[in-house]
Amino acid sequence: MASDAGGGERRRRRVLVFPLPFQGHINPMLQLACALHGRGGLSVTVLHTRFNAPDASRHPDLAFVKVPDGVPAAVAASGRVSEIILTMNAAMERDGEGALSPSVREVLASVVATEEGQPPVACLVIDAHLLAVQKAAAAVGIPTLVLRTGSAACHRCYLAYRMLVEKGYLPPKESQLYEPVKELPPLRVRDLVNTNDELVFELLARIAETVRNCYGVVINTFDELEPVELESIRGELGNDNIAFVLAIGPLHKLTSMSIGSSLNLSPDQSCIEWLDTQETGSVLYVSFGSLASIDSNELFEVACGLEKSGHPFLWVVRSDLVRGMNRACLPDGFESAVEDRGKIIQWAPQQEVLAHHAVGGFWTHAGWNSVFESICEGIPMICKPQFADQMINTRYVEAVWGVGFELVGKLERSKIEKVTRKLMGKNEGAEMRERAKHLKNKVSHCLKSDGSSQIAIDKLTPIRLCINE
Ligand code: UDX
Repeated sequence: MASDAGGGERRRRRVLVFPLPFQGHINPMLQLACALHGRGGLSVTVLHTRFNAPDASRHPDLAFVKVPDGVPAAVAASGRVSEIILTMNAAMERDGEGALSPSVREVLASVVATEEGQPPVACLVIDAHLLAVQKAAAAVGIPTLVLRTGSAACHRCYLAYRMLVEKGYLPPKESQLYEPVKELPPLRVRDLVNTNDELVFELLARIAETVRNCYGVVINTFDELEPVELESIRGELGNDNIAFVLAIGPLHKLTSMSIGSSLNLSPDQSCIEWLDTQETGSVLYVSFGSLASIDSNELFEVACGLEKSGHPFLWVVRSDLVRGMNRACLPDGFESAVEDRGKIIQWAPQQEVLAHHAVGGFWTHAGWNSVFESICEGIPMICKPQFADQMINTRYVEAVWGVGFELVGKLERSKIEKVTRKLMGKNEGAEMRERAKHLKNKVSHCLKSDGSSQIAIDKLTPIRLCINE
């Protein structure tokens, strides 16, 4: 077998990937899988849990293998993300105790055992929340790379978890919320995590451990967007002997794969026809991602605020958007009152929506995929963060990139009317739009053949992945 970088013929390789089973994590992992398959001619196998299993029929080029996850139905249905992740990891770590049959280690061992015609496995790319999978991979001798599906700023912050506890920033105290975290500018205590939940702190500690035990890290961002944060991560992980930290985003632009939804949510394409009828830059797109929820009173306030704003809007109202309900009931008469300028759907083809000329602003929960997709299309944002990395993302949107602002405090109709006008209007809104356009240009540069993300992803295929020799 020739194995040089100088054009010699290489033996084909197989890469395994294992996403965390939530939409905002499955999408970027499958995008990476498709990018690797498309460029390196690598064969890619997706390992996935039964819980929130991706729809394999949408990805005919990839192989799929199911892994038992040990998440009881009641926990899966609870929607409590931290508990689901920790329960899954705990079951996977009880290897040899019959907790799962087959165990993750057994599944990995059987996938690695090279069947006739199957190329050998080079490595396993995991989500940083899957420490149990990393341990199982180590037991069968497979090196792991970590895909960070969040921003570099978030990654830097999570890596600093121990320092944040030692210096008293975490758990956050009510009296310190607006104090700066001087080691991680421009973050303030309130941006770190908005909870005292011990499960969340356990998750953060495990993420840091997973990253420090891996071979290399890839992050869904690009060098010109977060230069300071990436430099700091590279410095820190370099000391831990991590071979590389590559910024390879925006992943959704590196593959032509239509990811609409990897789960069984069908994007409602009728909204594109509706957008076609609207004026350029006039529509506010409103979506809170796949997990965030509100209560029925907040739903009412959002509806009334959008109505009062007078702006056209496209609003994603998921059936589980209202906490504890499996159907979201809008106020009586609302839909007919806004019939001529409002469109309500259950799930959007979001990337297509953000790229549509009619969309001029995005009200988002500030999940990283949503923020990054908005940046890629030059769309300014209103951010209403709830949990996880959403506060960090919001801080960067507002204080670093200047392409949006936070809707602070309670959801009230008058406030919603005001922020909608601010974002969509001619003064501050226009300045944010200008900066968003500038960022969009930077995205175009990093995607050119000599752009930073293209170079980074080329480094991944196939030489660096062939590490299990
Ligand atoms: C979760 C966390 O909430 C988020 O903070 C973290 O950064 C990633 O994991 P989620 O809440 O789903 O993610 O938000 P986000 O990261 O924005 O991902 C949502 C994805 O679903 C995006 O890729 C978006 O394009 C897609 N989406 C959302 C649709 O395709 N249609 C919709 O109607 C809504």
